[in-house]
Amino acid sequence: MSVKIIIGAQWGDEGKGKLVDALSENVEIVVRYQGGANAGHTVYIDGKKYILHLIPGGILRKNVQCVIGNGVVFDPETFFDELEFLKQFNIFADGRLFISNRAHVIFPYHKLLDKLKEDALKNNKIGTTGRGIGPAYSDKINRNGIRVVDLFDRSVLSGKIQANIDLINSELQLKYKEQPLRADDVLKEINRYIDKIEPFVIDSTRFLHDAWKAGRQIMLEGAQGVLLDVDFGSYPFVTSSNPTIGGALTGTGLPAQSLEEIIGVIKAYTTRVGSGPFPSENTGEIGDLLRKSGGEYGATTGRPRRCGWFDLVAAKYAIRLNGFTALALTKLDVLDSFETVQVCTHYRVNGETIDNFPASLQTLSACEPVFETHEGWQSPTDKCRKFEDLPVQAKRFVTYLEQTLEVPIKYISVGVDRKQLIIR
Ligand code: GDP
Ligand code: IMO
Ligand code: MG
Repeated sequence: MSVKIIIGAQWGDEGKGKLVDALSENVEIVVRYQGGANAGHTVYIDGKKYILHLIPGGILRKNVQCVIGNGVVFDPETFFDELEFLKQFNIFADGRLFISNRAHVIFPYHKLLDKLKEDALKNNKIGTTGRGIGPAYSDKINRNGIRVVDLFDRSVLSGKIQANIDLINSELQLKYKEQPLRADDVLKEINRYIDKIEPFVIDSTRFLHDAWKAGRQIMLEGAQGVLLDVDFGSYPFVTSSNPTIGGALTGTGLPAQSLEEIIGVIKAYTTRVGSGPFPSENTGEIGDLLRKSGGEYGATTGRPRRCGWFDLVAAKYAIRLNGFTALALTKLDVLDSFETVQVCTHYRVNGETIDNFPASLQTLSACEPVFETHEGWQSPTDKCRKFEDLPVQAKRFVTYLEQTLEVPIKYISVGVDRKQLIIR
């Protein structure tokens, strides 16, 4: 047992990137298992800011190997842009960054379809990141996806591209009144990358299994969050993959018994970017203050994040679904200036008070939050490095969450830097 996993327990942007970096000092391999370049994982090291969308955060540590797992939808364009970005900081990935041969490839037509589908939704937009995620996963499930391994068999590749373009063109012309695409152009575009991709490609399931068997320290880096999960989230306002624990197994090929520590990352309040229900959202002054204090702007799209108080109903749901063995509470410092801090304990809907996250979008949208008020601490926590250093009200708040959630809050993050972390 040597695999640790970091899973976002809310609607994404919980601070997974910071946690992966802070906890990977002794890790040998970091793996992304789902999602694609829709992720935006921010890491600060010595005051320098890095935002990674596709490449695992472990790349920032020079001795760590990184794997883009089979469950990821792989966008060649972002991949090479990100490698260039890293080179500016003298971070080189050659020989220690691998792409699964079973990962599915994102083509420009996936991004085009993502945009057209969103535009067509008019007032019901999901608010996707526009990275082609939904269309690429649709192709995968429809069994017409193109995998990394297919890139190296030219006749297979051109046949698959032609078949896909035939399908897409009828949709483009009939449904969206757009110009048709040419398979040759798509082939030409991907051909720019194929030779460059080849050195990175491995059979990642074999690699990871061997590493696990050899007792190497592996960390799985989740993207998005539990409430964006296609099965368990606020469907259809979700992403198209499984950020939850099951996605880690299907997205890497590692067996369940390899998982040693399952860390759920929770922000001390809640944010969401994109559309969809958000029961504890505050669209007034409090929400604005959380956004401002927490710098809540999307790392991928720059959109302002919707903000609200911590939601216990959602957190308990996330815990049940994933079996977290520990929690990482992030951005506690963002609450430093608040006189009082609120927590949503229940939802009120259709005359009832409930403590479960409803499956029905209509019910979830109608939920009113029931809040409990806690005394704020109104003093800085960003320099605290031990639990004992925290102001008494902050300690009480953390203890309250821990007792209510019944999972140890082993990590408390009090700032952007990797050192701003309390480990208990
Ligand atoms: P991710 O997608 O889960 O990796 O999270 P993002 O990087 O999208 O968003 C989290 C933001 O909060 C980033 O700007 C981080 O630098 C920042 N952050 C992470 N942990 C903390 C913390 O404990 N305190 C503060 N103030 N900021 C944090
Ligand atoms: P990280 O890993 C927050 C949201 C989008 C949209 C929905 C579907 O940084 O936490 P998609 O492009 O995936 O089809 O969009 O999911 N979304 C995220 N929100 N953090 C993310 O990733 C997200 N990735 C996707 O805003 O609502
Ligand atoms: Mg993010």
